[in-house]
Amino acid sequence: MSEAMEKKKVLSCIQPSGMLTLGNYLGALKNWINMQDEFECTYAVADLHAITVRQEPAKLRAQIYSTYALMLALGLDTQKSTLFIQSHVPEHAQLSWLLSCYTQFGELSRMTQFKDKSAKHSDNVNVGLFSYPALMAADILLYKPDFVPVGADQKQHLEIARDIATRFNHIYGDVFTVPEPYIPKTGARVMSLQDPTKKMSKSDENVNAWVAILDDKDTVIRKFKRAVTDSLAQVRLSDEQPGIKNLIGIYSAVTNKTPQEIEKEFDGKGYGEFKLAVGEAVADELAPIRESYNTIISDKAELERLFREGGQRAEFIARKTYLKAMKKVGFVL
Ligand code: TYM
Repeated sequence: MSEAMEKKKVLSCIQPSGMLTLGNYLGALKNWINMQDEFECTYAVADLHAITVRQEPAKLRAQIYSTYALMLALGLDTQKSTLFIQSHVPEHAQLSWLLSCYTQFGELSRMTQFKDKSAKHSDNVNVGLFSYPALMAADILLYKPDFVPVGADQKQHLEIARDIATRFNHIYGDVFTVPEPYIPKTGARVMSLQDPTKKMSKSDENVNAWVAILDDKDTVIRKFKRAVTDSLAQVRLSDEQPGIKNLIGIYSAVTNKTPQEIEKEFDGKGYGEFKLAVGEAVADELAPIRESYNTIISDKAELERLFREGGQRAEFIARKTYLKAMKKVGFVL
């Protein structure tokens, strides 16, 4: 067996909804890049997921291009990994229907993301928002991954995907691989810079609450300077200091320093100095990504060539799994 065939498999997706944030980067995308050499990786822009909330068509289209370009700018390489757009592979939606018939209403009702989003968009609590985890399970199970690199907020969705796979396999035999979540030690839950009890999210109306991967250096530093802290005046990793805890987590994820080393580095120093150091470290890490993005996004024809090719490669794999599942259930192929 060749080395390539022995590699374990990885799958993950990201929604193209608005600017991607430092949370997306530290919680998931950084691992996507790190896993690229060791594993056989498949990564997608989850555009079908984005319409569970209302999207403006032209904006959605631009965001799909921009998210794909950003994946390339981060260093994901179509020679090593399969990079595609979810809606280009119809098996995602097709398998999702199948899996939704093996998913219980009660299970979906317990999803915290559904509860949060339906409270936030109370005028549009659509069925897609509710059945979203079945589509996410299809995204995953089609590619039989061993690992799914995600931030901590997606853990619950991953657990339901594992439950669905186990249930299906129990009835029909070995169809799906039951994947493991792959969650980073630092950066798994990057919090808002303005309210550190809330997750950093691109849908936050306060732009100072989140850092975009494509923010320029001055903007990044300004947002960190404005980050909410406390009046204890000590850089310590403590649950009583959620703002400082978040900044330590970010600094640690970017510099690979341990929280203990960071506490020592800033012992006796003021928050101003600490916030500036975090801002500069983040800005330095993001700068080359932004530069590379600006070049990549300007060549639309090349982007289209790459995502079409990625889509074909993905569909080749997805089709096999989908047909196997259909056959097992009893459909005439
Ligand atoms: P999405 O698009 O909201 O986020 C993409 C990835 O970024 C992580 N993330 C964070 N990590 C740390 N701190 C934060 N503040 C933060 N915000 C976001 C998310 O955990 C995620 O890993 N349903 C998924 C997309 C999806 C998917 C899949 C993921 C669709 N199909 C199949 C894995 C496998 C989502 O909405 O992620």
